[in-house]
Amino acid sequence: MHEDTIGTVMITQKEILQKAKEIGQRITREYQGEEIVMIGILRGAVLWMADLMKCVELDMTIDFMAVSSYGSATRTSGVVKINKDLDTDIEGKHVIIVEDIVDSGVTLNYLRGYISSRGARTVKICTLLDKPEGRRVEIDVDYIGFTVDDRFIVGYGLDYDQKYRNLPYVTYLED
Ligand code: IMP
Ligand code: MG
Repeated sequence: MHEDTIGTVMITQKEILQKAKEIGQRITREYQGEEIVMIGILRGAVLWMADLMKCVELDMTIDFMAVSSYGSATRTSGVVKINKDLDTDIEGKHVIIVEDIVDSGVTLNYLRGYISSRGARTVKICTLLDKPEGRRVEIDVDYIGFTVDDRFIVGYGLDYDQKYRNLPYVTYLED
C-alpha cells in the first residue's frame, strides 16, 4: 500500500457553486421555452451535475451513462466502452452532456456522436473542468466551469483509482 500526496486546494466548493449558478442561468436563458435532458457521465460528473441542475429553471429530466477509457492509469487508452447505456429515449430531445473533465477529448467526441446517433435534436457539452493541454481530438465544449493545468486532478467527483471523489474541492496529485 502506498500513500498518494494531495496538493493544495485549486478550486473551492464555494467557487464551484458560484459557477454552477452562472452556467445554470445561462442554460435557463438559452433553452427558454424548451425541455432538456441532462445526461451525466458516471461517476465523476455526479457532484457537479447535482449542483448544476438545481440552478436550471426549465422542464428537464436526467439520465446517466457510464463509459470507460481509463483503468487505474492516469492516461487515456483512447478506447471508449459503454458500461451503462441510456435508460430513456432521447429522440428529438435537447441534450446536455455533463462531464467532470475534458482531457484528450476522446470520451466526449465519442459520446457526442453516439447521442446524436440516438436521434437527439441538439447536443451540447457542459464540463466542470477543461484540461486543454491534454487534447488529442478537437471538440467544441459549450459550457466550461474552470480551465486547469495539465496535472492529474482529483476531488469533487474526480478520482484516482476510485478514491478522492468525495473531497469537497478540486485539487491534484503531486508527482
Ligand atoms: P478524455 O477522454 O481524455 O477527455 O478523458 C475523460 C475522462 O478521463 C474523464 O471523464 C475523467 O474520468 C478522466 N480524466 C481525465 N483527466 C483526469 C484527471 O486529471 N483526473 C481524473 N480523471 C481524469
Ligand atoms: Mg470519469
